[in-house]
Amino acid sequence: MTSTPPAPDRAVGFGILATGGIANGFVRDLAHVPGARAVAVGSRSLDRARVFAAEHGVAAAYGSYEQVLADPAVDVVYVATPHSAHEDNVLAALAAGKAVLCEKPLALTARQAARMVDEARRRGLFLAEAMWMRCNPMLLRVVDGVRAGWVGEVRQVRADLGLVARSDPDSRWHDPALGASSLLDVGIYPLTLATWLLGEPEQVHGAAVLDERGVDDTAGLVLSYASGAVATLSCSQQSWSDSAATIAGSAGRIEIAPRMHHPPSVTRVSGAMDAPQVETFSEPVIGKGLAHEAIEVVRCLRAGQLESPLLPLAGTLLVARLLDRAREVCGVRLPGDDLA
Ligand SMILES: NC(=O)c1ccc[n+]([C@@H]2O[C@H](COP(=O)([O-])OP(=O)(O)OC[C@H]3O[C@@H](n4cnc5c(N)ncnc54)[C@H](OP(=O)(O)O)[C@@H]3O)[C@@H](O)[C@H]2O)c1
Repeated sequence: MTSTPPAPDRAVGFGILATGGIANGFVRDLAHVPGARAVAVGSRSLDRARVFAAEHGVAAAYGSYEQVLADPAVDVVYVATPHSAHEDNVLAALAAGKAVLCEKPLALTARQAARMVDEARRRGLFLAEAMWMRCNPMLLRVVDGVRAGWVGEVRQVRADLGLVARSDPDSRWHDPALGASSLLDVGIYPLTLATWLLGEPEQVHGAAVLDERGVDDTAGLVLSYASGAVATLSCSQQSWSDSAATIAGSAGRIEIAPRMHHPPSVTRVSGAMDAPQVETFSEPVIGKGLAHEAIEVVRCLRAGQLESPLLPLAGTLLVARLLDRAREVCGVRLPGDDLA
């Protein structure tokens, strides 16, 4: 699948939707990406857009998202709004004929995600979920190593991601109307690691602690696979957990140092159990690590590719289906849910 690539003599223009935490982080990293430039930013507030544009050297600042979508200098729209807005924002960007990189989770539910993917394909436009861990050089080396047999056949994946989120009750961490859910926000990373290595599980078990508004603050999942593997995953937005991961098999294990979605190092333990060989290694990262997904988007657009092999839509959809199942078994509901 191909589309018309941006002219080779100019940088790929990114249009930024929203001015929150990750939009700032992404645009800071975009400065490290050759052949890419943030050319426009849109906010619900023109003042916030202007402040953002001045800080990051973005040429155009708009007081609406629609104006970003109408800007001909924008080749690809980066969606950094709360999850609850992703579907509307992505469909609007596609309708405006733009390629899209959308923050994780792509959608609140698998049905929403499927509608977005279908629309991108129908229009012949690039779409990817900004699942930056899939472009992380350290994790790419881990996945290559597992496929090359470093641990033998994978039997166990244990992965955790946790943090203590800001306490503002109106923030996207706590407001169900904005998609608040530790599973959707941080649990998506351990789930992505498990599916990246093991594919689709047979069974999904889980439990979550819900706050008074029904938001899953902390959750645990157990996935079982036809291969005989088990993945034990946890996530929290209320605990300072270890945020590490381990992949174990008959021939050894890989220990992924915190934070597991962009680890500074990885340790491979192999050889004999009573005399193990231990090797720790790391890979260079550009910027804070978000640059790698932008590099991949630029590469795809230049090559006229509608999907990224590093950020595959099939992988996004599989994780979205598992998040639906996880929320189902944990009893986590969001306003307007259309769980599959
Ligand atoms: N890849 C990663 O590592 C990573 C890290 C953090 C977050 N994320 C994802 O990125 C998305 C945004 O997260 P964030 O941490 O940047 O959130 P945030 O700091 O709360 O910012 C969200 C921005 O969205 C805009 N927005 C639009 N509608 C809104 C509404 N109804 N309420 C509040 N804000 C609204 C606001 O920008 P304007 O007012 O300027 O329009 C706001 O600044 C989420 O989907 C999250 O899962 C990814």
